[in-house]
Amino acid sequence: MTATAEPAKVRGETILAVDQLVKHFPISQGVLFKKTIGQVKAVDGVSFELRRGETLGVVGESGCGKSTLARLLMRLETPTAGRVTLEGRDLLRATGADLRRLRRNMQMVMQDPYTSLNPRMTVGDIIGEPFEIHPEVAPKRSRRQRVQELLDVVGLNPEHLNRYPHQFSGGQRQRIGIARALALRPEIIVCDEPVSALDVSIQAQVINLLEQLQDELGLSYIFIAHDLSVVRHISDRVAVMYLGRIVEIGTEEQIYQRATHPYTQALLSAVPVPDPEARDRRTIIRLTGDVPSPAEPPSGCHFRTRCWKAEEVCATQDPLAVPRAADPHPSACHFAEVRTEV
Ligand SMILES: Nc1ncnc2c1ncn2[C@@H]1O[C@H](COP(=O)(O)OP(=O)(O)OP(=O)(O)O)[C@@H](O)[C@H]1O
Ligand SMILES: [Mg+2]
Repeated sequence: MTATAEPAKVRGETILAVDQLVKHFPISQGVLFKKTIGQVKAVDGVSFELRRGETLGVVGESGCGKSTLARLLMRLETPTAGRVTLEGRDLLRATGADLRRLRRNMQMVMQDPYTSLNPRMTVGDIIGEPFEIHPEVAPKRSRRQRVQELLDVVGLNPEHLNRYPHQFSGGQRQRIGIARALALRPEIIVCDEPVSALDVSIQAQVINLLEQLQDELGLSYIFIAHDLSVVRHISDRVAVMYLGRIVEIGTEEQIYQRATHPYTQALLSAVPVPDPEARDRRTIIRLTGDVPSPAEPPSGCHFRTRCWKAEEVCATQDPLAVPRAADPHPSACHFAEVRTEV
């Protein structure tokens, strides 16, 4: 037992709060005299809370802003506007020792285990690298042992710390990425499509590992994926993103059983259903048209150009993500409670 003055950490309390986060990338033209000719609205007013010990799935099509959101949380990008509160502190304005401590507490697992590990570094050096920046976590003499413990924790042979990334399979490399993320004992891990580059059989193993680590270490996850089928098993709650915005957010049950946003309903109808009877009963929703460019999102509701429920109001008024009559979870649709045949 170590004496500590820190307040007790309660499972379920808010650990991270994101408020109206915005990231617009300028589009510039010209070689010598760069002129800004527009903005890519990659993240366009995203708000949510992450609770201690939970997994929040974040789902949406390519380009909807998932990685930008993750990079903003990691402070790898500077936001255009908005606020992020981590453990009650203002993350985006933190400096010095405060920032170092907050940064330590939130780590990231990248999508592609083939490109995210430096091929010229041994696995021991890759996993131990964070200790160079935060030497207070593991004194030099204990680092080798700490790296071996981390390898063991993620199910790799602790004796393999002198090997190079190319000597490992894709699934094993992602375990190395997870070990590195765990090195500084963070409370939050942002997983940006951690299994998308892996074979389906390996995906389940990596997800099981993440779940086991969450149970043992009380971690909170933001788990980003393309589609709803990947995040279902691991998520306590799910946020659905479309063109830089969260269009619906709710518990696993609210999203998978009682989704009210047409975009979520369309994504769900594309999820494979193994049971043939259930498959026959459900309505397939085929979205027409492409996702509009985030440089020129439609006025009002961003989804209206592909929505079968769209009416005039959708072009003029932004639907707020508030609880709708059909269910008490936030859904950004004017007609969330109206059932329509498709
Ligand atoms: N550094 C940047 N400069 C300009 N535009 C960017 C930059 N990073 C991302 N974007 C644009 O912002 C939008 C969101 O990109 P982002 O990578 O966050 O999407 P994503 O949801 O992670 O997509 P994917 O599923 O393909 O990984 C895209 O239109 C992308 O082209
Ligand atoms: Mg991405």
